[in-house]
Amino acid sequence: MTEPDHPSGHGTTRRRLLFGGAAAGLGAAVAVTTDRVALAASAPQPTPDTTGLNGAVTYAFHGEHQSGIATPVTAYASFIALDLNTGVDRGALARLMRVLSDDAARLMEGRGALADTEPELAQTPAGLTVTFGFGPRFVSVAGGAAPSWLAPLPAFDIDDLDPAFNDGDLLLLIAADDPVTVAHAARMLLKDSRSFASVRWRQDGFRRAYGSEVSGTTMRNLFGQVDGTTNPEPGTSEFDAAVWNRSGWLDGGTSLVLRRTRLDLDTWDEVDPTGRSFSVGRRISDGAPLTGEREGDEPDFEATTESGHTVISPVSHIARARPVNPDEVIFRRGYNYDVPPSGDGVSESGLLFASYQADVTRQFLPIQQRLAEADLLNTWTTPIGSAVFAIPPGCSEGGFIGDTLLG
Ligand code: HEM
Repeated sequence: MTEPDHPSGHGTTRRRLLFGGAAAGLGAAVAVTTDRVALAASAPQPTPDTTGLNGAVTYAFHGEHQSGIATPVTAYASFIALDLNTGVDRGALARLMRVLSDDAARLMEGRGALADTEPELAQTPAGLTVTFGFGPRFVSVAGGAAPSWLAPLPAFDIDDLDPAFNDGDLLLLIAADDPVTVAHAARMLLKDSRSFASVRWRQDGFRRAYGSEVSGTTMRNLFGQVDGTTNPEPGTSEFDAAVWNRSGWLDGGTSLVLRRTRLDLDTWDEVDPTGRSFSVGRRISDGAPLTGEREGDEPDFEATTESGHTVISPVSHIARARPVNPDEVIFRRGYNYDVPPSGDGVSESGLLFASYQADVTRQFLPIQQRLAEADLLNTWTTPIGSAVFAIPPGCSEGGFIGDTLLG
């Protein structure tokens, strides 16, 4: 009679092999294994549901531009700034960038880095991108001409900068839709950097998990604001003109401004939805401008209320941030952060405000200056870290990131 827990009818034989004294030793082990295979083959196999899986998604490492800027935004990102060790010279920088480029290319393809200690973790690239950025000292050691904007930003009255989050010589920006992938890639790249440089700071950011919202949904920051509506669209001429630098070794590259900005959630809690919407100039509920119906509607900065005031306050964030001409357009691609509070507040959260632009001085600075002078959002936001990097162009197969500077 077939035992109830072994519908294939092999149960009795298997039990005898497992526990019966007659069959012992290696022969039994082989028999058991064979028997299990037979069981597995005859049992109906459920078809795995792969709907919504994106672990196998890969982006190209090689090309005119580095990945991680115009590629789709990911759920997780780790911005890691390194300081070069004393004594590292131009030749060492070229060796470092060659190794790191090779690591990044392999990891982005879902292969382990050379000498990967956990290659199994690399098999789920989940849209991994690795973007490298150079600080002023990197360019100086490389003997290159630094663009005039490659320097710390001027001080703003709103700033309360903590040196622990400022500047850096070499940026590794590692982004993916899976945090294990990010952690593994970061470890591989840092292992290969450690005889050249040490970690200055690391800032981890996140957005909604992949699959929790329809892709393309504008992110909400931790204030609950729809953040990123008015942004040039990758693949358009507006994006290309705003983002890609066209001079010298940076041709095909860009710049990154990273401003770690604390969002004071504890005082933001005191503001009702009307006040929240007023401070930005957009409805907190759906991101539509206060003069429109839908998120994508153009704000009307001239529209007035019955009492004669503009519907969108002239000191609202969008009124102050809006580029006054196409020369000021920037591409924003920020991430939220949330870390344990240091004082007696409930949260220590904010935005890793990240923007890409061809020229920091021409595009980013005038906007930041206007916001520093007047912006209702400043009541609840404080920049606490600031860094500027030149993002070199991409490279071809056989080349490496930075080869236009170091090659
Ligand atoms: C970290 C604090 C900040 C928060 C919470 C924040 C939030 C927002 C929100 C909710 C919007 C409206 C929706 C949108 O179009 O994305 C917006 C728009 C914008 N922000 Fe910010 N922002 C911050 C800092 C900055 C900084 C530092 C800059 C640049 C210096 C900036 C530049 C812009 C620009 C250019 C727009 C689009 C304005 C338009 O044309 O409508 N923001 N921001």
